Amino acid sequence: MVALVPAPARPAVTPAETHTGGVRVRTAPRIVGAGVPVPLDDGRHVPYANLDYAASAPCLEAVQDAVTRALPYYSSVHRGAGYASQVTTDAYEAARGTVRAFLGAWQRAAVVFTRNTTDAMNLLAHAVPGGTTVVAFETEHHASLLPWRRAVRLPAPATPAEAISAADRALADAPGGPRLLVVTAASNVTGELWPIGELARVAHRHGARIAVDAAQLVPHRPLDMTALGLDYVAFSGHKLYAPFGAGVLTGRADWLRAAPPYLKGGGASADVSDHGDTTRWAADAEQRHEAGTPNVLGAVALAAACDTLAAHWDALAEREERLLARLRAGIAALPHVRELTLWGGGGPRVGIVSFTVDGWNARDVALTLSGKHGIGVRDGKFCAHPFVRHLLDEGGAGCTGQGSAVRASFGAGTTDEHIDRLLTALARLADR
Ligand code: ALA
Repeated sequence: MVALVPAPARPAVTPAETHTGGVRVRTAPRIVGAGVPVPLDDGRHVPYANLDYAASAPCLEAVQDAVTRALPYYSSVHRGAGYASQVTTDAYEAARGTVRAFLGAWQRAAVVFTRNTTDAMNLLAHAVPGGTTVVAFETEHHASLLPWRRAVRLPAPATPAEAISAADRALADAPGGPRLLVVTAASNVTGELWPIGELARVAHRHGARIAVDAAQLVPHRPLDMTALGLDYVAFSGHKLYAPFGAGVLTGRADWLRAAPPYLKGGGASADVSDHGDTTRWAADAEQRHEAGTPNVLGAVALAAACDTLAAHWDALAEREERLLARLRAGIAALPHVRELTLWGGGGPRVGIVSFTVDGWNARDVALTLSGKHGIGVRDGKFCAHPFVRHLLDEGGAGCTGQGSAVRASFGAGTTDEHIDRLLTALARLADR
């Protein structure tokens, strides 16, 4: 599939050329739009404090640069003999290899480009063999909770150990036939990490497979699918600092190769008869499920983000731990603000903190943070309705947040000033 591009004139547009050549960098990567001014209710402007990375992370400068370099050669993918088309096809296919390396996937793992994690999980739901039993906790994001035809939904576990034993029991009790355990790597509500390695071992002991929603983990931490024994991983470019509309489903190719195409059309078809009565579909898992012209700039952007993050992990993790500790200690010191956690908050987690404010509706908190302080957060149930309801119920009467919560989430462009501004603003809410 990769086009033959004459070596001497080949332009620098492949994702591999956007990274740092394997050098690990001690600073966080730079983002586009850092410090952009936003208006307050009183007409003043302040630099934006974006604390909504878990919904969509800003674009990395390296991603913007990669897209800018690719654009002059942007052309049809897989469909043209022209030079620009060859370059574009080459960049698109190289992006698969970059994703495979980023996830520690094995050489023959399928890497299907999708629109986002929801699309990736729906593709997997489409591809699982008939009669597959899917086991998922109610704590999942809707992308991983809703696509399945035949699902066993487990209640929120009180501890990581209980998650492992509940999955073990559910897989043992599941009817014969294929079984799939679906679990998040990091919660989009609490940021808490799930024991995906242990859950993979449990799944495999029962002859089941495991699919991991890594949308909230991979912007923060490296993941090694092969070492952890994960069968499938899904994630989104728009949470990985690559806002160009591409996501990924990576993993075992057999179910994908056997399933009918996710979309039927050009690219997925290998041969179509004159009257359309017989169609032979592409055998290759990627081709089969990527009908139509794919999002090449999305793939280039996503690959550039993978390469850039891989070079900055140490700096990102060190900053994030510091900012997380600062935010959580600050919230703990505010008697009217309550953090939501499933497992008590002492375990490993990424930069996501959800909370309620006594006497305040979550929407009003979010609007006040924006209008009075230039801070962007998300409020609501975060596409995880059963989980947020569970957390609010567990929190007792004072922690209802009137049915929803506020979430602060951060990453590469976040500063101590953003965290302090949020804490100061939350402290002032008590004065109402
Ligand atoms: N899934 C995204 C979130 O958690 C949109 O906000």
